[in-house]
Amino acid sequence: MWKPPGAKRRPLLPVDWPTVDEAAQSTLFSPIRLGPVTLAQRTWVPAMVPWRATEDGEVTDDLIDWYARFAAGRPGAVVVEATGIRDIPSGPLLRIGHDRYLSGLTRLVDAVREAGGGETRLFIQLIDFLAVKRRPPAEKYVRRFLRLDEGHRRRLAEHLGTEAPLSASDDDLATLLLAGDDALHEVVLTRSELSALRYGYRESVTDLHRPHVRDLPQRLPALFAQAAQRAQTAGFDGVELHYAHAYTMAGFLSRLNVRTDGYGGSIGGRLRLPLEVYGAVRAAVGDTFAVGCRFLVDEVVEGGSRVEDACAYGVAFAQAGMDFLSLSKGGKFEDAKQPKVGQAVYPYTGPSGYECMPTVFSDETGPFSRNIAAMAQVRRAVRQAGEETPVVVAGGLCEFRQVESILVAGQGDIIGAARQSLADPDWFAKMRAGRGPEIRRCLYTNYCEALDNRHQEVTCQLWDKVQLTDPSVRRSRDGRRRLTAPADEAAPDEG
Ligand SMILES: Cc1cc2nc3c(=O)[nH]c(=O)nc-3n(C[C@H](O)[C@H](O)[C@H](O)COP(=O)(O)O)c2cc1C
Ligand code: SF4
Repeated sequence: MWKPPGAKRRPLLPVDWPTVDEAAQSTLFSPIRLGPVTLAQRTWVPAMVPWRATEDGEVTDDLIDWYARFAAGRPGAVVVEATGIRDIPSGPLLRIGHDRYLSGLTRLVDAVREAGGGETRLFIQLIDFLAVKRRPPAEKYVRRFLRLDEGHRRRLAEHLGTEAPLSASDDDLATLLLAGDDALHEVVLTRSELSALRYGYRESVTDLHRPHVRDLPQRLPALFAQAAQRAQTAGFDGVELHYAHAYTMAGFLSRLNVRTDGYGGSIGGRLRLPLEVYGAVRAAVGDTFAVGCRFLVDEVVEGGSRVEDACAYGVAFAQAGMDFLSLSKGGKFEDAKQPKVGQAVYPYTGPSGYECMPTVFSDETGPFSRNIAAMAQVRRAVRQAGEETPVVVAGGLCEFRQVESILVAGQGDIIGAARQSLADPDWFAKMRAGRGPEIRRCLYTNYCEALDNRHQEVTCQLWDKVQLTDPSVRRSRDGRRRLTAPADEAAPDEG
């Protein structure tokens, strides 16, 4: 796990939980409209991949339990994890790229409606992503994948100060490359070859020489629109278009997007596909279904988009008619840690990953409300443009006074709490009922995120060993962890 310079373990926020009356009068527990949908309260469980779908991307009983457990805490909204919009093998990533996924997704919606007493609104995050391969052994990369050409020969000859590489066989050339050190590789290989050797092959939206990447603007609007239509058929209240982190649509928004086909370069070019996707989705689902997106207030990578760009994105999405804007930060491939041979690069392992899910091993700012200033700036830009689109903020939000002051100060409209809700899915309900001291407080040390990183079933260290021997408790594949938080025994029975 990457840590900021000067990182020390920082204390959790001091708590001052509300009384029942304070909670009843708070902004946090007041309703808010997102276009056609009203949230009963401004509490939001953002998308979190729990790795519980089947290898074919189907809903499982464990996945249903995971979301039903969040809904039992009656938040205003739950967003179902990043869900793939294509009908292609994607490992155990939840999918919505074909009608055959409808029955599983409908079961999921029904279970959440029941567990949330009809109070919790349910969204699903729609994602597209490009290929990322595991880091290959150098021998395999150089001999099997690398296409040797005259450029390699010439650069190798210049670097070694001999003409031998100019007439060497491909096999001998590969041997020379493999015998070389980092400095030689840096001179001889192109940027993308070097990255494939060190990190594994990874596609980028700027790879216009690859036809399927070049054609993304022609393909994606329809794919997102069909996925959104399925979400509507399955009974969701809306969709969150995933325009954040390390995935395709964030790649289009990024300042690093230098596509020359009208879908990159200027801010208008970078916004073009995200707006066309939104337009296609809206046309497919109509006005009675909520459509919003998640995007980054800062990519936190060299040359990437900053908060000024994010302000422009927010204004453009609001003016286009999106029903909500959900903000995040970082989570990019560009600064990710080098994976071990045989493993794939993971976008939450570098500085930008830290900013996405900050821990208590932090600099002086600490993980709490860390992203709020930038998020508030985006919201302000949207309001100054005359748009009232609600803004969901997130990042280390976990305490009543903290989140209430964000809402009252107009820094955000809805409180997204991912890890605190995983630590205690009943934390909103407990606050509301004056039971704050019973809240299981997230430690922000990212045990859950480490599981996510390894694509293992995500659980929380604070509860995954509780009553493990109870035969009714569903456990992880290795049997060592329970899969959902224990029930809140003290909760009033709301039927
Ligand atoms: C296990 C795990 C899985 C996550 N999966 C997603 C995801 O699918 N989509 C997404 O936009 N963010 C994802 N996130 C990021 C969270 O939604 C959230 O933005 C981040 O954890 C910061 O909020 P927090 O401090 O309240 O945890 C994930 C976070 C965790 C811990
Ligand atoms: S595992 Fe740690 S960081 Fe994750 S939710 Fe639980 S306490 Fe928080």
